[in-house]
Amino acid sequence: MAAGLRLICTSSEVVDGGQGVRFTVERYGRTTPAFVIRFHGQVHAYLNECGHVPAELDWLPGQFFDDSKLYLICSIHGALYAPESGRCLGGRCQGKGLKPLKVQEIDGQIFLEQENNHG
Ligand code: FES
Repeated sequence: MAAGLRLICTSSEVVDGGQGVRFTVERYGRTTPAFVIRFHGQVHAYLNECGHVPAELDWLPGQFFDDSKLYLICSIHGALYAPESGRCLGGRCQGKGLKPLKVQEIDGQIFLEQENNHG
């Protein structure tokens, strides 16, 4: 499968357990917010939509981790997500996880794997 790669940012912009980077994806003809974070060395990306209501998680742009640096937290009502899977771990996400996006880290840069998803 030939997936196109789109540059999101440089690796150094995404801090392990810290600052993430916001970007957008085109989904079904609309621009949708998304973000990439790093956890235990690996980068992970998700749509920036809480499982509770489709609001963006970060009140301060790029701050997705809670104080423990172990969980992603929604700044609105405090839903907690697993950084490595987006799984809902507690709070108002009620078992509804984040929607993952495929990313690759190559030579100090982070790329989004583009889907042919224009349905
Ligand atoms: S909008 Fe995220 S927990 Fe309510």
